[in-house]
Amino acid sequence: MIHLRGEHTDVVIDESFGVPVVVHWGAPLGEVDPATIGRALARSLVPGALDVVAPISVVPEHGAGFQGRPGLSGHRQGGTAWAPRFQPHAVRSVDNGVEVVAVDAVAGLRLACTITLDEVLTVQLMLINESSSRYLLDSLLPTLPIPAHAAELLTFDGRWTREFHPVRREWASGAWVSENRAGRTSHEHTPLVFAGTPGFGEWHGEVWGVHVAWSGNHTLFAECMPDGRRYVQGGELLHPGEVCLQPGQSYQSPKIVATYSNGGLTPASWGFHRSLRSQPVHPRSARPVLLNTWEAVYFDHSTERLQELATSAAALGVERFVLDDGWFGGRRDDRRGLGDWWVSPEVYPDGLGPLIAHVRGLGMEFGIWVEPEMVNPDSDLYREHPEWALTTPGYDPVLGRNQLVLNLAHPDAFAHVFEQLDAVLRDHDVAYVKWDMNRNHVQASGSDGAAGTRAQTLAFYALLDALRERHPTVEFESCASGGARIDHEVLRRAERVWTSDCNDALERQTIQWGASMLIPFELMGAHIGPSRSHTTGRVHSLAFRSVTALFGHLGVEWNVLTLDDGERARLAEVIALHQRFRPLLHSGDAVRFDPVLNGQIAATQVYGVYAADRREALIVHATLTAGMSLLPPPVRLQGLQPDARYVVEQVPLPGAMLVWAASGIVLTGTQLATHGVQLPWQHPESGMLLHLRAL
Ligand code: DGJ
Repeated sequence: MIHLRGEHTDVVIDESFGVPVVVHWGAPLGEVDPATIGRALARSLVPGALDVVAPISVVPEHGAGFQGRPGLSGHRQGGTAWAPRFQPHAVRSVDNGVEVVAVDAVAGLRLACTITLDEVLTVQLMLINESSSRYLLDSLLPTLPIPAHAAELLTFDGRWTREFHPVRREWASGAWVSENRAGRTSHEHTPLVFAGTPGFGEWHGEVWGVHVAWSGNHTLFAECMPDGRRYVQGGELLHPGEVCLQPGQSYQSPKIVATYSNGGLTPASWGFHRSLRSQPVHPRSARPVLLNTWEAVYFDHSTERLQELATSAAALGVERFVLDDGWFGGRRDDRRGLGDWWVSPEVYPDGLGPLIAHVRGLGMEFGIWVEPEMVNPDSDLYREHPEWALTTPGYDPVLGRNQLVLNLAHPDAFAHVFEQLDAVLRDHDVAYVKWDMNRNHVQASGSDGAAGTRAQTLAFYALLDALRERHPTVEFESCASGGARIDHEVLRRAERVWTSDCNDALERQTIQWGASMLIPFELMGAHIGPSRSHTTGRVHSLAFRSVTALFGHLGVEWNVLTLDDGERARLAEVIALHQRFRPLLHSGDAVRFDPVLNGQIAATQVYGVYAADRREALIVHATLTAGMSLLPPPVRLQGLQPDARYVVEQVPLPGAMLVWAASGIVLTGTQLATHGVQLPWQHPESGMLLHLRAL
């Protein structure tokens, strides 16, 4: 038995079976002999079942009698080796964990399972073909058992402009399954699930969260078996024939990243946040407020106009100017030009130099948009190399946003794109790259005609890694039509995500609420758009748009040249407000409080950030829709220092009239958690900001 101890979590692993079995993943156990845990939880044989109890190991085996979905699925020619049963082989310590190796001499397979526990529990698997014939792998899915009393699930629905929408589900018998074939993390199938004790909330209940850290196709599966046991299984979804292991070859699964808390969802999500914050790539400098040109000018580029926009932005306090789509090749609209990563002489006759010099002269950084994994049929690149498109010969390719995926697993295509992007970064003073990916995969085949999404996903990582290595000071943003590529593997190589193409503050409230369960605010791109949202047509006050975008890596995506003096002054105030609270927002712990619901829809929601030492906090109370009662209940803030005395002040939002009469009141952490504070009536689609300081 192996006992891993984390700060708030213990894991006990039985390695004697062959494939390791997680016997306990949950609350710290104190001083205990791990073998006792194994004995305490040992299941007896039952009538009407097999004469063995097959464990839910990290790769549950049909060959051992497991009746759920096997962790490994595959076969050799003729259908053999389809139901392996591994035997113990070796165990060795690794940083914060253990690697357990098991072999199946009959099937000719070796399995290495690495399990570590730090801020999160991580499981990664490697399968090696040790036979002299090839092995066709269908799936290798790390699996974690979940205790029987976790009978409720929290999953996430989504689509373009509506990512990360939380959905509660009873987890009775049967399975919940999510399968993503988009070739990117996807809007629709967020690779994240929480299981918990019935009714678990932000600050109560036991919660187990599982995330598939992968930017390609994935599957996530949660089953309550007829024998009462539960497990969550997740990993890469492979197309037929996508992985064929020749003798000696191996396959490595994506990592499953998991978190546990016995104090609710908010502390559980800190595991995910702390894990990301411990990554070498995680940004450690102040996140520059940026202006993104997309909703400001779309494809209507001109050096003079963009220089004016930059001048105007700098005067507002913007610190980074990001030139979005439309600067390259023949890209005058979204029907052409992708793949031609050279500055368009048509719109930039003197190159980008004058614009960049202007931006830098204003004291701002310069950022640039690219979409390296794509090609338009109407592009020089495609005309020269139609064979580099990731399509299946013999079929008319399915277009998405008029574009095809470029086969980055083709070495020449990879080298070509690398050289072009390298030249852009080498020849220009660029601090930041917004890396977009705007279509799903369909019939994505490599040169051999076999499914190529896995190879493409690995090539995407390799290209980004190579560019980062060549340009170590450049930061990268992961964007995919908004939030279709937000996961912990891409965040090993990106400093920001674009959370959604929807800048509508009302929609954003829910999107960011959901996203905050996986990523901290400093990684979450959040922009103030025009008063009338481009994607929904809704109109919101600057105050609501601001209080919403404040909780993220702030940006402005608005043609600020169209603002009158009053609007400019208020926007500058908002930017200054963000800059004032930025150190707290980007280093503290994100907190959420159970929302007031109308059915499954939040009518009001309260969330914010607590300083790591709990001496300061910034909290938003957002009214999303008319609630059932005229006044929402008092805001109760759990998790502060019980005896500390906090001054609670309203922070006025530019242009908002709302006044809280009790602003300045002093209350202890215990009082804030128990009776809390009653805020005044707010109309739907508005927010209020509170600042707390310990005396
Ligand atoms: C989709 C992105 O999400 C937008 O922000 C913008 O960059 C467009 N692509 C540009 O084509």
